[in-house]
Amino acid sequence: MTASVGTEQASSGALVLDMLAGRYSARPPIWLMRQAGRYLPEYRALRQQAGSFLELCYTPDLATEITLQPVRRFGLDAAILFSDILVVADALGCPVAFVEGRGPQLQPVRHRAALARLDLTRLKAHLAPVYETVRRVRAALPASTALIGFAGAPWTVAAYMVEGEGSKEFYAARAFARSDPDGFGGLIELLCDATTAHLLAQIEAGAQIVQLFDSWAGVLPEPEFVRWCQVPAARIVAALKQAHPEVPVIAFPRGAGVLYRSYAAAVPVDGISLDTTVPLAWARRELAGVCLQGNLDPVALLAGDAVWRAEAGRIIQALAGRRFVFNLGHGVLPDTDPAAVGGLVDFVKAQRLPGGASVTTREG
Ligand code: CP3
Repeated sequence: MTASVGTEQASSGALVLDMLAGRYSARPPIWLMRQAGRYLPEYRALRQQAGSFLELCYTPDLATEITLQPVRRFGLDAAILFSDILVVADALGCPVAFVEGRGPQLQPVRHRAALARLDLTRLKAHLAPVYETVRRVRAALPASTALIGFAGAPWTVAAYMVEGEGSKEFYAARAFARSDPDGFGGLIELLCDATTAHLLAQIEAGAQIVQLFDSWAGVLPEPEFVRWCQVPAARIVAALKQAHPEVPVIAFPRGAGVLYRSYAAAVPVDGISLDTTVPLAWARRELAGVCLQGNLDPVALLAGDAVWRAEAGRIIQALAGRRFVFNLGHGVLPDTDPAAVGGLVDFVKAQRLPGGASVTTREG
C-alpha cells in the first residue's frame, strides 16, 4: 500500500489526522496517553478542589480545563478528552469510586444474575456532561490540534466490573469468562453496545479521532483474546465506520504480543497503539496498512534526558518512512517531571523525517 503527502489530498490542518489518513508529514505528530493527570501541578490543584475524581470527569468546566492543561503547556498535536474508561461502568449501574491509594472500586458483577442491574438506557443521560466537555474542548482548540475521544474496550471494562477493582491478573474475570462464557458474553455484548454508543456520542459532540483502550488484553490466551478482545473490537469499529467513516479509530490491545498481528488484520482500525514490548522492526513488517503509534517506555521519562532522547530517537529512526504517531507505550507516570515531557515534545517536533513532506513513501 502506498500513501503520499502533500498535493494529492488536502491537509486537514492537523498532523495527527493527516497521518492517520495516510498523508505523511515532515515530522511525526505527538500526543501522550495520560498527558493530563497527576504529574502536572495544575491538575493536582484542581483535583484537590474537587470532591472526587469522578466529579472532575462529570463537571464540564473542570474536565475541559484539565483536557487543555497539557496542550497549553507543551503544544501537543492532539488533546485527549479528560475522562476515564470506567465512566461507562458507572453509567450502566455499576457504581465506581476512585479511592486514594487504592485505585477504582466497583460493586463487583461476579455472575450472570448480577447483570440484571445494568441498564444501557441510562448511559447517554448519565454521560451527558462528558459530551458537553467534548463540545467545549473542540470549541477551545485551534484546527491544528486534533481532539481524541476514547473508551475502554469491553474486555478491560468487564475485567474491572467483575473484579471490583484493579488487579495484575484479573483472575475473577477470567474465571467468570471460562466457567460461564454465555453469561460473561452477555456482559461483553452489553459493553459492546455501550462502548459504541459512548464513542458515537463523543464523535457527534466533536471528537475527531477515537481510541479504544484494551489495557488488559495481554492476560488472555489466544482463543479468549479472539473472543473477548478481537471480535468485540471488530464489531465496535465496524459500527463506528458505518456511521462515521471519516473518523479514524486507534486501538490499543496492550500486551497482545504476536496477537497484535491477528488483531490488526481483523479489526478495521486506522491506527494501532503499540505497548512498550512490541519490537518496531516486527511491527513495521507485520502490521501492514495501519498507522503505528507508540511506544516509548514511560519509565524512560524518569531516567533523565539522555535516556529518553536516545530511546525516542531510536523509535523515530525505526519507523522512518512509515505512517507513525509518536506516543508512549503506556500512560505518563505520576512521578514524571513535566520538564521531561516538555523536552520530549520539543525533541519530536524538531525531527525531520527523511524525504521531508513531499515524498511518496512505501508503507510496510
Ligand atoms: O490520557 C489522558 O490524559 C485522558 C484521561 C484518561 C484517564 N484514564 C484519566 C485518569 C484516560 C484515557 C484513562 C484511561 C484509563 N483509565 C485506562 C486505560 C489506559 C491505561 O492506563 O491502561 C484504565 C485501565 C483506566 C482505569 C483507571 N483510572 C485506573 C486503574 C485508575 C487508578 C490508577 C491511577 O493511575 O490512578 C484511574 C484513575 C485515573 N484516570 C486518573 C486519571 C488522571 C488518576 C486519578 C487521580 O487523580 O487520582
